Amino acid sequence: MSALSELYEEIKCCQRCEIARYRTNVVPGEGAEDAAIMFIGEAPGWHEDQQGRPFVGPAGKFLDELLSLIELKREQVYIANVIKCRPQGNRDPLPQEILNCRKWLDCQIEIIHPQIIVTLGRYSMALFFPQKSISKIHGTAEKREDGIIYYAMYHPAAALHQQSLREIIKSDMFKIPELLAQSKGLPEIKQESSPKQLNMFEV
Ligand code: URA
Repeated sequence: MSALSELYEEIKCCQRCEIARYRTNVVPGEGAEDAAIMFIGEAPGWHEDQQGRPFVGPAGKFLDELLSLIELKREQVYIANVIKCRPQGNRDPLPQEILNCRKWLDCQIEIIHPQIIVTLGRYSMALFFPQKSISKIHGTAEKREDGIIYYAMYHPAAALHQQSLREIIKSDMFKIPELLAQSKGLPEIKQESSPKQLNMFEV
């Protein structure tokens, strides 16, 4: 059994939050164990809860489209969420749920050790870029001491509600291959400093 499959078995048994009682399926995440790119969304919605897979609803269709722009299929990347169970009625995740689920996400990052982590939306961004605003930092990246590039993007669902974001999200997606290509030459920066001091780079 692979490290990821073992982890999924553990996640499936998780009962740390009240929402675990209402889930149809846990949605741990999916993709290649050796993926260079890891996308982290917010939380499963109705479709994801039904299928036990991340990003399979309308936002997922747009994510697939975005991946195809950079000639990738979802099997070549890793896709996860900040929390693994669907909050009832698609409400926002609660701080305690995010905290409870953090362990699972950290394990996924440790197993996959991607070259780049792409945060999708505010909740995912807040884990890795605390106190920042998505409208200010989307499309910018930091390489941290762990050797991983952290890159913030709007959530694909945002484009479904606000057409004007569609092109912005696409253009942020187009930067990913270049970031990966540059990643070896980029200096690593300390996480505790502010992004400005960290010399956040833009492609
Ligand atoms: N939105 C998310 O953040 N994650 C999913 O898996 C689906 C929609």
